[in-house]
Amino acid sequence: MKLDVVLGLQWGDEGKGKIVDVLAGNYPVVARFQGGPNAGHSLHFEGKSYVLRSIPSGIFRKDATNIIGNGVVLDPITFRQECENIAKTGVPVKERIKVAKKAHLILPTHRLLDAANEAAMGKGKIGSTLKGIGPTYTDKVSRNGLRVGDILAPDFRDRYEKLKNRHVRQLSQMNFECDPDAEEQAFMEAVDYLREFELIDCEYYVNELLKTEKILAEGAQGSMLDIDYGSYPFVTSSSTACAGACIGLGVSPSKIGHVYGIFKAYCTRVGSGPFPTELFDETGERLRKIGNEFGAVTGRPRRCGWLDLVALKYAVMISGVTDLIMMKSDCLDSFETIKVCTSYKVDGKETHSVPFDTYAAVEPVYTEFRGWNADLTGCRTEKELPEEFRNYIKFMEDYLEVPIRIISLGPDREATIMR
Ligand code: IMO
Ligand code: MG
Repeated sequence: MKLDVVLGLQWGDEGKGKIVDVLAGNYPVVARFQGGPNAGHSLHFEGKSYVLRSIPSGIFRKDATNIIGNGVVLDPITFRQECENIAKTGVPVKERIKVAKKAHLILPTHRLLDAANEAAMGKGKIGSTLKGIGPTYTDKVSRNGLRVGDILAPDFRDRYEKLKNRHVRQLSQMNFECDPDAEEQAFMEAVDYLREFELIDCEYYVNELLKTEKILAEGAQGSMLDIDYGSYPFVTSSSTACAGACIGLGVSPSKIGHVYGIFKAYCTRVGSGPFPTELFDETGERLRKIGNEFGAVTGRPRRCGWLDLVALKYAVMISGVTDLIMMKSDCLDSFETIKVCTSYKVDGKETHSVPFDTYAAVEPVYTEFRGWNADLTGCRTEKELPEEFRNYIKFMEDYLEVPIRIISLGPDREATIMR
């Protein structure tokens, strides 16, 4: 069977949580493969809302197994809080979640280092979510990290102290004032809690499952935040593209099936970094208000702008997207005119490529569409969609050369059109 992948194609916050929750009805297994609690995946159903950080968005589906894969960085404290909240609603979290032994642990001091790094960068800061993501992946790559499986070792406490002391030295070199012990007890208790879960050899587990089951891999963040292909250095520290699912779960590229790419009908970005179609006027303000564009994790207002098809086509290429999923086009319902960026002007020359240095003055070139001026939120079939809207979709499919298979017209599970 195949591993199908759901990916964000922009700067995160595309609506991955909702779509994974919708698709998870057809998948017995959902797996996260990268990122950590920097993610905030929102789900709405039966009048309730949830924000998931580390837990896969299949958690509310009965009988679904939810895997936290090798490529993830896991903060035991956040994980415990998240699990306990969900458990209150009657979900048997310990039965439904399996955690990869090779996933790396976020220590409280990783979070302090994140804050220290950002403070040291001043104006040039990344705008990190401050969840310790960058420092944890740094320790992984420099071969200093602690992994989930290490919590089973008799000398775990010694290993923890060794890494913590290393962090304390780094923090004091940076003159960052903090109390490195403040969350130590909560961390140790959360580690005890984590021991109550089934800790798996994810690569064996997933490949064995694939003999009989299809699996849905749930990406976090988005292509333009990818460590290699995003707007470096204003990126996250993991591989958010399709290939990341292979590395993060221990699965061969030949096992990849559908690659679902999610995008919003406009763009948003939180944190710093280039954003060619950003709007600083009242249209941007209007998008933020209608789309409720405030961070699910940090509450920060998101920067808003028109859809950028140049960047989107780049993301489609990097991940080999087979099926597109368009989110939040209902937020454009009241706009007279809708713009999409179809090329860039760089140094006066027109291009359809994302330049190496996205900080070079990139001027977006727009194609304008007449708005549909109709309320799409109640539409449940394609026939109900206005003609202007269908033309708009057709234009995007022609430009991106990939079909739009799912149109989401509201946060609820039910507000979804399958084509
Ligand atoms: P989901 O999965 C939006 C952004 C941060 C910052 C940069 C680096 O909900 O789409 P990090 O904490 O990873 O070191 O921050 O990446 N960022 C996100 N933006 N959605 C996310 O996740 C994000 N995860 C990280 O704002 O600019
Ligand atoms: Mg988010």
